[in-house]
Amino acid sequence: MAAIPATPHQTTLPAGLDLGSGPLALLRAARTFSDPLGAMIDLYRKHGDTYSITINGGAMLVFTRPEHIHAVLVEHADSFYKDADYTDPNQGLARFVGQGLITSDGALWKRQRKLVAPALHARRIMAYAETMTDYTDALLTDWQSGAKLDIAQEMMTLTIRIVAKSLFDVDMSGELAQPIFEAMRELQDMQGAINILPTWIPTPAELRRRKAIRAMDKLIYRIIEERQAGGADTGDLLSMLVAARDENGEPMDKRQIRDEAVTLFLAGHETTANALNWTWVLLSQNPEIEAKLHEEIDRVLAGRLPTLADLEHLPYTERVIKESMRLYPPVWSVGRVAIKDVQIGDYLISKDMRVAINTYIPHHSPEFWDEPERFDPERFSPERESSIPRYAYLPFGGGPRVCIGNHFAMMEAKLILATIASRYTLRLAPGQKVGMAARITINPDGGLPMTVQAR
Ligand code: HEM
Repeated sequence: MAAIPATPHQTTLPAGLDLGSGPLALLRAARTFSDPLGAMIDLYRKHGDTYSITINGGAMLVFTRPEHIHAVLVEHADSFYKDADYTDPNQGLARFVGQGLITSDGALWKRQRKLVAPALHARRIMAYAETMTDYTDALLTDWQSGAKLDIAQEMMTLTIRIVAKSLFDVDMSGELAQPIFEAMRELQDMQGAINILPTWIPTPAELRRRKAIRAMDKLIYRIIEERQAGGADTGDLLSMLVAARDENGEPMDKRQIRDEAVTLFLAGHETTANALNWTWVLLSQNPEIEAKLHEEIDRVLAGRLPTLADLEHLPYTERVIKESMRLYPPVWSVGRVAIKDVQIGDYLISKDMRVAINTYIPHHSPEFWDEPERFDPERFSPERESSIPRYAYLPFGGGPRVCIGNHFAMMEAKLILATIASRYTLRLAPGQKVGMAARITINPDGGLPMTVQAR
């Protein structure tokens, strides 16, 4: 988490955590937020559903109630920009992804969102269904019944290959994807830590980061240059970015294309991989739900690979994924900074104040869910789904900055789940616990060893 800027605030803050000031405050923050999600849940239990975190006189407000979430993301969306966790060029996401869609604001974001949206439109992504099942099918040719595999690694490799092929028409098999994985790992490490030292100090972590970014850039620039040299419009996202011209007829510079490409690699694989990881964990822990899923998949597919047309006949598969993302929202917190004074509920947020929206807490609140810790996909049956309060469930965020890849992600998760579950069951060892490591996304702590058993 990047440091909270010291901004004066004129509002009456809700109770919360005051980390004090000076260099010790940063150390205190590092200790408290070594498990950021755990710390946020503790603060919620202690202080209620809106609380503050103050450091060096600057305050951040954390919102967990649906009406506040709606006010920040939708109603007053234009009063907020992305916060320093995204935009800090040294220690935010921007360090790796530059000024792509996730990290940009204002006019640049508007222009880029318009440019990228057609490639991820619900109609356009139908063309990617075959890539999704073909790559999953190819992954399974390397699986052997009874083998113990790191499923987190398998899902990550699969989803990055799918996003690379669908959006950039690049086959990222084997070693080619390595620089991207390395860079993503470094990014996760950086985001998991409070970085106290400036980046010009060449600590081992800093040197590793620089090397990882250089290696990733070399690969991405090569892909872009090959496409520019080829000149052919292959109809994928990269072609669209290369062919795009602004109102003066100027093409996007190579750096901007690189930033969008890295953004989509990042946003488009780890999130979906984690949605699937937790789905495998939950299915292994809940055999009766797994049996229902198998019944649907076997009945509809009868052993063949799923197609786009099958998806409407796999409603339970969809419910399983939605419920898995309720219990383990891949993106558990989104941050903003106010660009003007704005009233959110009882709180006056002054310009430059940071706010965080925690989605994990409403997803687990007994106020909105019966037996919230129970894995119950039927919560998303049509009759029950319509009674879920608005913004109590938001795995893809909301408002103008809602996930641009949400249709892509849902289609991908359903196709992967149906393809794998029709052929394998994935099992945790008896008594195996899977901890949560929350960084940008909620990962299974230390990987996800599971035994794959042919059905
Ligand atoms: C299960 C999978 C996914 C989840 C849970 C997820 C979640 C989210 C969330 C919560 C946001 C909003 C962040 C904010 O408001 O600060 C977001 C934004 C975004 N997502 Fe996803 N995402 C997923 C998959 C994808 C995929 C597959 C892609 C691309 C192929 C993608 C691309 C993006 C981009 C570019 C943004 C920024 C949009 C903008 O600010 O205009 N995501 N995602």
